[in-house]
Amino acid sequence: MKAITVEPKKPGTVRCEDIPEPDVREGSILVEAIAAAVCGTDIEIAEGKYGWAPPGKTRLVLGHESLGRVIDPGPASSLKKGDLVSGLVRRPDPVPCPNCAVGEADMCRNGLYTERGIKEIHGFMSERWRIEPEYAIKVDPSMGILGVLLEPTTVIIKALEQVMAVGQRSFWEPKTLLVTGAGPIGLLAAAVASLAGIEVHVLDRNKTGPKPELVRALGATHHSGSVLDIGFEPDVIVECTGVGSVIAESIQKVGAGGVVCLTGVGAGGIATRAVADVAAAAVLKNNVVVGSVNANKRHWYKANDRLARLDRKWLSRLITRYEKPENFKQALERQPDDIKVVIQFSEI
Ligand code: BGC
Repeated sequence: MKAITVEPKKPGTVRCEDIPEPDVREGSILVEAIAAAVCGTDIEIAEGKYGWAPPGKTRLVLGHESLGRVIDPGPASSLKKGDLVSGLVRRPDPVPCPNCAVGEADMCRNGLYTERGIKEIHGFMSERWRIEPEYAIKVDPSMGILGVLLEPTTVIIKALEQVMAVGQRSFWEPKTLLVTGAGPIGLLAAAVASLAGIEVHVLDRNKTGPKPELVRALGATHHSGSVLDIGFEPDVIVECTGVGSVIAESIQKVGAGGVVCLTGVGAGGIATRAVADVAAAAVLKNNVVVGSVNANKRHWYKANDRLARLDRKWLSRLITRYEKPENFKQALERQPDDIKVVIQFSEI
């Protein structure tokens, strides 16, 4: 079968190739891939900056944002043939650490977790894949191809849950939320937050094009320029750029008792503000900076619900390009107007 594979940590090694059918040890449910979406992590892996092949192998099947159709539910699942499914990304570490032991692999303490398409287990960018019943999430059939947006939504659900958990350390009724970065994660964060009735603002470097329009269509306010110039102090900032200067400004700008949640993974950059100045702002205003990655089953459950409550037309505008698996090169290359690129394996 056709699959998009890569030799991790070696730039330029992605290819679309024939590989054997998935091994039954990868899970008792057999799924036909419909689509896999591309995210920043996939691009990083393709650029040789991240990713790990399964033990004893040199290549990894890419893809962790999945949508498929059940071909064979196997003996141990309540799914039926034809159901739409998406697969959880992370698997617990084998030790296991306390968090993995209680079903919170997203909070793994020892780093020995594995992740489909990222860390030591094959991903979902193959014509067929297998999955264990406990990690297969049934997608609302009315979502159609938009079900491929479930995984990035889970990441947001977890981030917002972290924000709320941290906020509970004192009396706290957040009224305003700023998202930095209007990529797929930022836009989904704004959309999910707007369902909760909070006043939502999005800051992005694009002043024109589809992104500002998508923000306004949510009833949210679009800003560009510096976080320091937005004209108010948000109770919550969900940082989705991973850019050093935006992070530092967010920590300085968030309101007293506020929470900055970091979801973006960047690297390098030049320190535009002294660390102690940024820290002093956090101390004097009792602020919290919390990092958030991945998502557990609880977040997947909630994400399924929230995604189905969002406007379908608005969601479909997030997918700006569909590519065939053979065109993996174009799919993994960022283009200026891209929001979410989806590799389509079969018709929905
Ligand atoms: C994925 C997460 C994963 C993280 C780190 C993200 O792109 O959505 O599931 O935990 O990368 O590998």
